[in-house]
Formats: sequence, C-alpha cells, structure tokens
Amino acid sequence: MQVFTPTEIVVDDLTKPYEIHATGDWHLGARGCAENRLRATMERVGRKRNAIVLLMGDLGEFIIPSDNRFDPMAVCQDAKVEDLGDWADFLIDKIASVARPLRGGSAGGPGKIIGALKGNHENTMSVKTHRNLGRAIADRLGCRYLGYSGLFTLIFVEKSTKKRAKLSVFATHGAGNAATPGGKMQRLKKYCDMVDSDLVLMGHLHDTMKVTSIRLRQTEEGIGNASQLGVMTGTYLRTYSEGEGGYGEMKGYQATPIGHACITIIPATREMAFSEVSL
Ligand SMILES: [Fe+2]
Repeated sequence: MQVFTPTEIVVDDLTKPYEIHATGDWHLGARGCAENRLRATMERVGRKRNAIVLLMGDLGEFIIPSDNRFDPMAVCQDAKVEDLGDWADFLIDKIASVARPLRGGSAGGPGKIIGALKGNHENTMSVKTHRNLGRAIADRLGCRYLGYSGLFTLIFVEKSTKKRAKLSVFATHGAGNAATPGGKMQRLKKYCDMVDSDLVLMGHLHDTMKVTSIRLRQTEEGIGNASQLGVMTGTYLRTYSEGEGGYGEMKGYQATPIGHACITIIPATREMAFSEVSL
C-alpha cells in the first residue's frame, strides 16, 4: 500500500460542487473494449472545469500469448501481429492517447489526473516481463503512481481566501471475483469497514455502485455523524461483443454496464453524491 503526502486542488469556491471522476478497467487492447465511447467520455471530462480524475488500474488488457487467457480472436482489431512483439508499449501508447484530453497542455503535466493505480492485469504482465507496467503508465501520463492501493488526502484550497478543506481517500484496484450485485456490494463494504477514510474507491468487479455508512456520535449540539462513501468505479469492457468471445464469455461472467463513477463533493461540508457517467 502506498501512503502519500496531501494533494492540493485549487478551487474558486469551497461551497460549490466539485467532481472526482474515478475510472478504470478500460481494458484497452481487448476487442470488447468500448474504445470509442471511452474516448468520447474522456474528452467530455477533460473539458470540465471543476473536475479531477483518478485512474483505477486495468487500463490495458495486458494479456500476452504466453498467458493462458490469451485468445487472438479477443484482441482489438486495430492491432497488428507485430504489435504483440511489444504489447506493453502498444497498450501504453493507447492509454496515453485516450488520457490526452485529461492532461495539462504542452507542458506534459498530469492536468486533471491526480494519480494512477495498477490493476491485476498490469501486475500479471509485470511479473512475466520484469517491468513495472503500473509505474510505466503513470510515468507516461506524468502523474503519481499509486501502487495497487493507496491512502491519501485531497486538500481543496479556495483561491481567494486560501481556506482549506480536507478529504481522506482510500483507493484500491480491488479484489475478489463476485459476480452478483450482492457479492460485489459485500466486497466493497469489506474495504469500507477496513479503513477510516471519508471516500473509499475500488475497481476490478466491473460495475458501478455505492454504499454509504453513517456513524452517529454525540456532539455539543446533540446528534452528529460521520459519513463514509464507498464507490465501485465501473468498466469500459463489454463482456460480450459480436464475433468470438474472450475469456469472460467462456467463464460466463455477467454482462456489465459501460461507464465510470463520478463523486460530486461540496468541499466545505464534505457532502458527497455518487453518480454514474455512462455517456
Ligand atoms: Fe478489470
């Protein structure tokens, strides 16, 4: 687990809504990746003024011929045979191209991207090829590498007054192989119970959902509460697509919606609302 120094985000007004887009499981390079929709969505997010982005891992499919999940019929149709000779760089180029609208101008900075996690797909190929692909992606995007999971604090700073508001975050690519809504929710809740962060984010199970926990406590005014929002961050991989299916189809995985999670926050009060970005 990685633990980070705070990330400062300068905002106009701490009482106005700000968006945190948590998106991963793009699986670029897979035939089932909804790449056109992903590109269009990232362009729209890139144009938003009050928004930051957290990348949740499994951005590329990262399955090579020596992997028993490899299926040539499940590879994206714009890949050439020779691209398999340098599959990691082919995918990192694709990831960088999709993420381009999120990044800062010509200076090559991270822009809206506050960090990138690695997923199990990056990790599996990293082990086989002795190359840290999670870090390679973050380096290419000019953003912070968050490892498989990370604890960090976002500090919203109001431009004119320099007033500050904090939000503690735990983000992980995630674990488990739950296929039902109840099983997925349980896995998310396990992470929420494990950490004391205001916002808990997980990917991996290819769905969007939220769980809110409210803990009551006595305050000088009477009943107060501490709330925690847990969010599962979606996917842009279609389990089923026309033509030959990949390993997901053969294992009978659920068909899942395409999209990602957006958390809208009022920094001054730490009130948060979850929504699904699917178009
Ligand atoms: Fe995934």
